[in-house]
Amino acid sequence: MSDDQYTSDTLNGFTPESTEPRRVVVLISGNGSNLQALIDAQSYDELGGEIIAVVSNQADAYGLKRARDAGINAVALPHREYESREAFDGALIKVIERHEPDLIVLAGFMRMLTPIFVQRFYGRLLNIHPSLLPAYRGLNTHARVLADGAREHGASVHFVTEELDGGPVVIQAAVDITEDDTEESLKDKVHAREHLIYPIAVRWFLEGRLQLGVNGPTLDGTPLPPQGLRLSHADAAEELDEDDE
Ligand code: GRF
Repeated sequence: MSDDQYTSDTLNGFTPESTEPRRVVVLISGNGSNLQALIDAQSYDELGGEIIAVVSNQADAYGLKRARDAGINAVALPHREYESREAFDGALIKVIERHEPDLIVLAGFMRMLTPIFVQRFYGRLLNIHPSLLPAYRGLNTHARVLADGAREHGASVHFVTEELDGGPVVIQAAVDITEDDTEESLKDKVHAREHLIYPIAVRWFLEGRLQLGVNGPTLDGTPLPPQGLRLSHADAAEELDEDDE
């Protein structure tokens, strides 16, 4: 037997562990304040990885400027240039896969996704929604919450499944609704909490602590409760320098 045979046999099963930063692609449609929270976390080395591209279906999205200002590859992929939802999602899949991401983060991406898209990235697709899911799926959550006279509102980060805003929740943060709250004031309060919880969830995922298994999401191997973990009022208020009543 020649030495060559031994050499190739030995190397066949060897996969060196990657030391490359974990890669994130963020999808947006507009302002991108959640994107900014993720960029800021990355700049403090608190994201657990690197945002390598931001893709918007709206060419004039302000979030694209935020990405460029941070030196991140900013891609406009206007959905109107595609004749069907499937054609657009096919193009989007190609753009995303070019960047070989570990995680795809939806941050105000205002498009319904096709099952093909969701299946392609299943288990590595996160979204943030402005309500305490499973309450108030869909649009105009702040107005609907106020119209119902609810006392509490908030934001949720969840894994994306084919059910709109219906995937398993990872983390939530609540806000109390006061009598003088308007749609705008409520939106601001919820946004502030979104900016706290999204970087946390992304970091958990990129550090390998958060996973979507067959029985739902786990954190450090422990199944998460149905509505995810809840950031307490006290912790949020402290982070945001607010009075905690
Ligand atoms: C946020 O309220 C998020 O929950 C929802 O879309 C909004 C995006 O805001 N999915 P921004 O573009 O991150 O400022």
